This record gives sequence, structure tokens and C-alpha cells, in this order.
Amino acid sequence: MTTETDQTPAMTTAPPVALHKVLAGQKALVTGANSGIGKGVAIALGQAGADVVVNYVDGDDAANAVVAEILTFGVKAYAHKADVSSEAEVAAMFGKMFDQFGTIDILVSNAGLQRDAPFQEMTLDKWNKVLSVNLTGQFLCAREAVREFLRRGIVPATSSAAGKIICMSSVHQEIPWAGHANYATSKGGIRMMMESLAQEVAPHRIRVNAIAPGAVRTPINTSAWQTKEAYDQLMTLVPYGRIGEPEDIARAAVWLASDHSDYVVGTTLFVDGGMTLYPGFATGG
Ligand code: BGC
Repeated sequence: MTTETDQTPAMTTAPPVALHKVLAGQKALVTGANSGIGKGVAIALGQAGADVVVNYVDGDDAANAVVAEILTFGVKAYAHKADVSSEAEVAAMFGKMFDQFGTIDILVSNAGLQRDAPFQEMTLDKWNKVLSVNLTGQFLCAREAVREFLRRGIVPATSSAAGKIICMSSVHQEIPWAGHANYATSKGGIRMMMESLAQEVAPHRIRVNAIAPGAVRTPINTSAWQTKEAYDQLMTLVPYGRIGEPEDIARAAVWLASDHSDYVVGTTLFVDGGMTLYPGFATGG
């Protein structure tokens, strides 16, 4: 008797690439995509079949290298230098994207920075810089994307949603962070902006969600992982016992951008190795 299993070719290698092209034909913009998490996300979206705009503000060569890597997947990509905290530069960036790609389906608002200082020494410049890039930058980009999603509506052949926005937040939207009040405040703000916007545009089938990474090996936090002492100290905060890699976040972003997460609306996906589980309580309390 022939069973179903007998007729199925043995799957000893990865499934055919087409199965991974969950974002085929979609147009994505990733801000801060020349390094770290943004770079990982931009590459993964391209690998999943999306055409990608690689936004950056410093480092032409790094941005061009990300574009070159994305092009190897047979999709389109180009780099666009723009400061996400500038209303005019953001408008111009979206205008060019519409010229080049016709529209936008996926926005990953990732650009962010830290300017740390003890509270009593924090300058207004440091405060404003972090809030304007991390929070206002996400507002400006989301506003342009929402305008286009509302104008265009759903294209069923592309996606069951009229558009997807992924806000890159942080565990520090929940965990207070001494010495980083500007950064934690910006991430707390992202949470509430994301949820308010998600509630507002969900009836138009626009999905807005966030990813909250924990400690990920990127240039923003080299001091937290570069030496053995720092890494060991960091691990006391990570129950899963390893640092995150940009690919950990990138895989979450592909899922949130795809129809596989079609009923996921206004949520924050924590990708943090358990950092938000109060690891200090594993032995205390
Ligand atoms: C920060 C990193 C930090 C991590 C965990 C991130 O949002 O940018 O510097 O290592 O949170 O604390």
C-alpha cells in the first residue's frame, strides 16, 4: 500500500526559495538601514521578495553595501540619504520612492540613536536630538506612509492589508533606564504613538505594530558586549543566555510585514531573550 509519505519527495534540504518570498512584489522602506538592526531588516525584507529603500543619514559606503547585498536577491533597491527628523527630507524621500517604486506597502521605522547622560548633566541638545530622531522621525515617516496607504487602499494581489508599519521600539518602552532618560522616554512615546495610530487606522486595514528588541549586537551598544566582563554582566539581564543578533529582529520584521501576521494589530513583539521577565527575580523576591 502506498502511503502519502511514500509519494512525497524527501525534503532533506531547505524548501524551495519561492516559499520564502512572502513579501514578493511589495515595496518597503527601512529607515536607519545602513547598520545594525535596520541593515538586518532591510536585507531580510529583500530576501523575502520586497523591493527596498535603504534610508541612512551617515555612511554612504555602508548604505551602498546593503543595497548591493539586497540586489543579489533579484529585487530592486537603492539608498536614500535623509534625516528622518526633517519634515522636508522625509517628504522628499517618500516622493522619490513613489517615483521609483510607485507606492509603499511596508514601512519599518527603525532609525534611532542614543545620547546618554546622567539626568542632571543632560543637555537640552541631547534630549531634543534623541526625541526628534527616535520619536518625531517615526511620526513623520508613519504620516507619509499612512497618507499613501489611505490613498491607494488594499491591492489584494499584493497583501490583504492596505499597508503595514513596524515601529522599532525597545525593551526600554517598558524598562526604565537610569542614565538614558531621553532614550527610554522616546521608546515609551513610540509605544503610545504606535498603539494610538494602530487604533486609528485599523478600520482601513492598515496594520501598525512594534518590535521591542532587547540587547542586540549592533554599533549602538558595543560597550555592553565587546569585552568579556561587559558581556557576562549583560547576560545577568538575559535569561536566554545569549546576546541578540540583527537576524533575530529581522525574522520578526518579515513576519510582521507579511500576511502571516494579518490579524496582528497594535501589538509589540518583544524579541529580547527574556530581558523583560525581571530576571533578578529568578533567585530573589
Ligand atoms: C539599546 C541598547 C541596549 C538594549 C538593552 C536597546 O534599546 O539601544 O543600547 O543594550 O536596549 O538594554
